[in-house]
Amino acid sequence: MSKEEISNLGNENRRFPPSAAFAAQANAKPSLYDEADADHTAFWAKQAESLVWEKKWDQVLEWNLPFAQWFIGGKINASYNCIDRHVLEGRGDRVAFHFEGEPGDTRTLTYKDMLREVSKAANALTSLGVKAGDRIAIYMPHIPEAVISMLACARIGAAHSVIFGGFSADSLLQRIQDADATIVITADGGFRKGAAFALKPVVDEALKGETHVRKVLVVQRTKQETAWNAERDIWWHDLVDSQSDQHTAQAFDAEHVLFILYTSGTTAKPKGIFHTTGGYLTQTAFTHKMVFDLKPETDVYWCTADVGWITGHSYMVYGPMINGATQVMYEGTPDTPEKDRIFKLVEKYKVTILYTAPTLIRTWMKWGDEFPNGCDLSSLRLLGSVGEPINPEAWMWYREVIGQNNCPIVDTWWQTETGSIMVSPLPGITSTKPGSAMRPLPGVDATVIDDDGNIVGNGHSGYLTLNKPWPSMMRGVWGEPERYKETYWSRFEGKYFAGDGAKWDEDGALWLLGRVDDVMNVSGHRISTAEVESALVSHEAIAEAAVVGANDAMTGQAIVAFVILRGGIDHANQESGEALTKDLKAHVAKEIGAIARPRQIMVVNELPKTRSGKIMRRLLRDVAENRAVGDSTTLADPNVMKLISEGLSSAKQED
Ligand code: PRX
Repeated sequence: MSKEEISNLGNENRRFPPSAAFAAQANAKPSLYDEADADHTAFWAKQAESLVWEKKWDQVLEWNLPFAQWFIGGKINASYNCIDRHVLEGRGDRVAFHFEGEPGDTRTLTYKDMLREVSKAANALTSLGVKAGDRIAIYMPHIPEAVISMLACARIGAAHSVIFGGFSADSLLQRIQDADATIVITADGGFRKGAAFALKPVVDEALKGETHVRKVLVVQRTKQETAWNAERDIWWHDLVDSQSDQHTAQAFDAEHVLFILYTSGTTAKPKGIFHTTGGYLTQTAFTHKMVFDLKPETDVYWCTADVGWITGHSYMVYGPMINGATQVMYEGTPDTPEKDRIFKLVEKYKVTILYTAPTLIRTWMKWGDEFPNGCDLSSLRLLGSVGEPINPEAWMWYREVIGQNNCPIVDTWWQTETGSIMVSPLPGITSTKPGSAMRPLPGVDATVIDDDGNIVGNGHSGYLTLNKPWPSMMRGVWGEPERYKETYWSRFEGKYFAGDGAKWDEDGALWLLGRVDDVMNVSGHRISTAEVESALVSHEAIAEAAVVGANDAMTGQAIVAFVILRGGIDHANQESGEALTKDLKAHVAKEIGAIARPRQIMVVNELPKTRSGKIMRRLLRDVAENRAVGDSTTLADPNVMKLISEGLSSAKQED
């Protein structure tokens, strides 16, 4: 974001207070802020009371900066809190999931059904020798078995590591190896964009070499022909369906690892963010209830995120299920068979709460109002946004066209690392501004600071930092204890630095300004520049690569790569140049996954580097965003940018 854009942000005077009717019925009351301010640990202990603990904790918090333990001595089972509890308390017949496959097939799963299915899956995993503390990789389409698998792991104390189904074999293998997973749960494939895609071959490819994976459990979703390794592979229906549907969930320590979820950092190696049980469940459940104002008896809640991301973990599985929510789960893409698919589903299931990402909102805007206008969206009463800053225009469109001026919007800022929403309006309390995430939630202590660590006030921007431990904070980076300290707690003493820039406006509302590190945000997906660079240089034609995230009207940021070719590679004429960039894009998609495919690849002769050899991405971003190049006096060779700009203007930049 340019300086000018930053200073324009937050010059927003429109306010949208909640209606009196909404405020009167809202779960969150203003006193929550006071309670949290008065006693931070007592506040979180109170929220933890709403879970079912087999044994209550002895101590709420132990804080040895930067290591926190919450609810020490407490014993709890995550799966029990998500399912058994509801069945035992008489809510077993409530629908947990209205599942809709992309081809239009449906399944309705009540909480009683979930208990049966999760119990069978837990027994199946135990029969495969899975024990508490083991790691299970889940690589699935967006179908109920993904959730069932996660909860089955939690039930027996095995940590799940869900890997988004769009990742490549290499990315899958890297994550399987890092966590040393022993079982992979997958499917033959799934449905997307009107056709079946295959997943199992990706697993086969990933497991070609040496790993500790003993068994691959395969859900039959598409019935496509599937290659089989009889010693290793087992069909889900052969193993799980015949298991007993009785299973007693065992309580584990509050600090027992619940899951690992890999996310991109500033290096090429993804970070295995791990979360533990008691604190994570406490904060996801609390925030879900307050931010989304969930009324479990009457609401139909739909979070459109895939289970492969943290939003799917916290706000489709754990938070909502602990709160006994009825949810919609949809397998496919928003434009299959038509661009109104999401709206049709809102109408069909009478969705009341919709939680989605700005990139989809902007896509809907582009497709045109006729799609939402053709459906009955009057059931909606609250809208949420997550994953990247939402621009004021998209916010207004969301409010007017989807919410019909009748729904509070919660723009929720958080991260894989934070586990739960940290900054968001509270519906019924906060008078919102289009584009602002407004203020830290109760129990969250956030500040914006400058380069020297000084707290900045209203009207100023800086780095978003968190000052106090919170229950759902990550407990570490799997297998890399030092990386946790270094990455998150070393830049500013005593503070967690999230990697985001932020600004308080003149009214004290908080605006998120995007990442300030080498992490890109493409359609709400986190991708590291280093990861894409390393994929590019693994291609035989590439000597060196530098990648930046450039502003993109649709995807927030788009990946733009600058590459230096090895000697002898021909890209001089249009045909060979186009063939090369096409090949490079496909190569990155193969190495990492389709989400990392660059939008644009520019062939250059040199890259702008400082005297210490660091690539100055800021200057490349100027080029990628067609701006005048900024101050380049610290470059080892100040002429480089001139050469790059001249070279590019004489070449074809885009294909
Ligand atoms: O840059 C912020 C952006 O997404 C990053 C976290 O990405 P991830 O761990 O994949 O989690 C995404 C879903 C929680 C943050 O560092 N981000 C997330 N939500 C917002 C956001 N940026 C601005 N506004 C948001 N509401």
